[in-house]
Amino acid sequence: MTDMAPELRDRYIDLLIGCLTRELFIDEEVHDVDLSALTGDSALAQSSGGVDALRQELRSKNWRLVRRGGDPALRLDGSDWPPAAETMVGRLRLQQVRSCVESVLADDIPGDLVETGVWRGGVTILMRGILEAWADTERAVWVADSFLGLPAPDVESYPADAGHDLSNIETLAVSADQVRSAFDRYGLLDDRVRFLEGWFSDTLPAATMERIAVLRLDGDLYESTIDALDALYPKVSVGGYVIVDDYGSWEPCRRAVDDYRRAHGITDELTSVDWTGVHWRRSKQQ
Ligand SMILES: C[S@@+](CC[C@H](N)C(=O)[O-])C[C@H]1O[C@@H](n2cnc3c(N)ncnc32)[C@H](O)[C@@H]1O
Repeated sequence: MTDMAPELRDRYIDLLIGCLTRELFIDEEVHDVDLSALTGDSALAQSSGGVDALRQELRSKNWRLVRRGGDPALRLDGSDWPPAAETMVGRLRLQQVRSCVESVLADDIPGDLVETGVWRGGVTILMRGILEAWADTERAVWVADSFLGLPAPDVESYPADAGHDLSNIETLAVSADQVRSAFDRYGLLDDRVRFLEGWFSDTLPAATMERIAVLRLDGDLYESTIDALDALYPKVSVGGYVIVDDYGSWEPCRRAVDDYRRAHGITDELTSVDWTGVHWRRSKQQ
């Protein structure tokens, strides 16, 4: 792609964010109704002979009870799990990704763009789209995930993960093929999108990128966060960014980041973007 006119670039990236979050189509969004929240005296339950009878009838007909429409406020700050969007990260944190990527492009900070913990891939799609909009022809986007969901906490090695078991949540297991087809849907799947498939402890130490300009961590657990920092922080260029999605909302993640920064004498200021996301800009080679 040749360089876009600035206002078109801005509109393209903004449109990409609106699509990736489904913010633009939020009125059409369809959410499953939790039947256990239906009380026996609701008209719907009564007309079908009670909640259990309703549940049985829906199952026998292979129907779902759904409600239409999502909450734009939740999508703005990424505090719901959207049914179809390619990312659960809200607009505010996606704008943070955008400003970090555009900052490394403007300042010519060397390195690729990486996310560890991609789910349906939306943040990495945005990263690739921003490179396209700025006619960058060099940098790769690295898409690191188990594509099986989170590991069960290894409490012996990482006591901070005790009580934070998300390993059975099916919604969090999204296959690499699903993520590839999401990239393809936006016309952004090419050989500059590199998949690292498997547990971070196996894939990240062997990853072949030389430098990283933006490293985004979104693996929730202490283990997932510290594995990513141990393997990848040494490759972050001076002037590059580390973005942490879960710092404000997940104690295990926050502890991993604090422990890593303390152990490596990192004092670069943490900047908050919303109720959970932070970033810092690497100022020196520690
Ligand atoms: C909260 S989701 C990421 C959300 C995503 N960034 C987005 O844009 O919506 C966490 C992801 O991290 C992955 N994950 C967590 N720990 C991992 C690990 N140790 N190794 C590989 N993948 C991991 C999970 O499979 C899941 O896809």
